[in-house]
Amino acid sequence: MAKIDIEKLHKSYGAHVAVSGLDLELPDQELVVLLGPSGCGKTTTLNCIAGLETPTSGRILFDGDNVTSLPPHKRNVAMVFQSSMLYPHLTARQNISVSLRHSGLSKDDLAKRVAWASQIVNADKLLDKLPGHLSGGERQRVAMAKAIVRQPAVFLLDEPFAALDAALRSVLRAELVSLQRRLTTTMVMVTHDQIEAMTIGDKVAVMRDGKVEQLGAPSEVYKNPRTLFVAGFVGSPPMNLLPGRLSTEADALYFEAEGFRVPVPKRFASVAGTNGVTYGIRPEHLEVSYEEVPAACPAKVFALEQLGRESILIAVDGRGTKLTTIVAAERTTQIGERIWLRPKAAECALFDTGSERALAP
Ligand SMILES: Nc1ncnc2c1ncn2[C@@H]1O[C@H](COP(=O)(O)OP(=O)(O)OP(=O)(O)O)[C@@H](O)[C@H]1O
Ligand SMILES: [Mg+2]
Repeated sequence: MAKIDIEKLHKSYGAHVAVSGLDLELPDQELVVLLGPSGCGKTTTLNCIAGLETPTSGRILFDGDNVTSLPPHKRNVAMVFQSSMLYPHLTARQNISVSLRHSGLSKDDLAKRVAWASQIVNADKLLDKLPGHLSGGERQRVAMAKAIVRQPAVFLLDEPFAALDAALRSVLRAELVSLQRRLTTTMVMVTHDQIEAMTIGDKVAVMRDGKVEQLGAPSEVYKNPRTLFVAGFVGSPPMNLLPGRLSTEADALYFEAEGFRVPVPKRFASVAGTNGVTYGIRPEHLEVSYEEVPAACPAKVFALEQLGRESILIAVDGRGTKLTTIVAAERTTQIGERIWLRPKAAECALFDTGSERALAP
């Protein structure tokens, strides 16, 4: 159990800046996910928390104590990597026990601890197997047990499920959440899979270019992205983003781009004078109609991606702008079919195109 504070963390490799003045507060006993595109500095940040990398500058505090220059074994952290590092010639049981070799526990207590840790991740039936005889998912369970057995204050996970298939990932995700609740440790997990981030984290820190762009509860980050980058990165399929301008007519506010004009909620009246506005609307808030309706944008079906229960429909409007929406799978839609798209006006987000920041709601 530990509260982690990261203050102005900076890490360069020669001229290359991997982490650039990152500030982050990780509350005690919460599961925080670091989410961001490849190369944005997620692993470097995690390695600095673990003590595997020395920051170029900045501080890392555990419960207020400065641990920035402490070696990993003095930090009470455990780390699980994308592909777990298990000794191939040792059984799962021996691999898990290795973590406790300097603990001074009696043989009996050690066996109890190993049994306890492996039960938590359903690895208790695997204990006599060698890593080579385990599936990928089973190996990750053993790696988790190996980390848990030390009862660390901080649990760091770097894309622990990335190499696994979707079904197993979803099972292990659920197990991780339940594990975190039971162990009441602070966990930081890295992923570039935004579905993973949205489903497991108490909080999500969206990273870009070595900085945290937004920190918040997953639903908050999804509903109120503070920048264009977060709006485009969080959500699958991503939010539709259309550059254009605001206009006022008879006291009502509109967003306009070529051939596209939609009403904007009154709450945006105070930003009506902004030059260059990007309109954001999530695919699920863009209604598709197969007949002409008022206040809708005419378009044609460009592509259809069937997901089972629903389909992702990519439409193209008169000027070639692509807009993504979601339709029920029952509706048979033809490529090239004429459709009308109408945003649920209240659900839109607006961004200042120049600064890329959200305009106050
Ligand atoms: N040891 C190193 N030497 C030089 N550059 C490095 C080193 N480690 C990381 N980098 C660079 O720092 C940047 C951040 O790397 P990092 O591994 O933290 O990214 P990441 O967000 O974890 O990416 P991914 O999602 O691909 O794992 C990258 O541009 C990477 O090339
Ligand atoms: Mg990484």
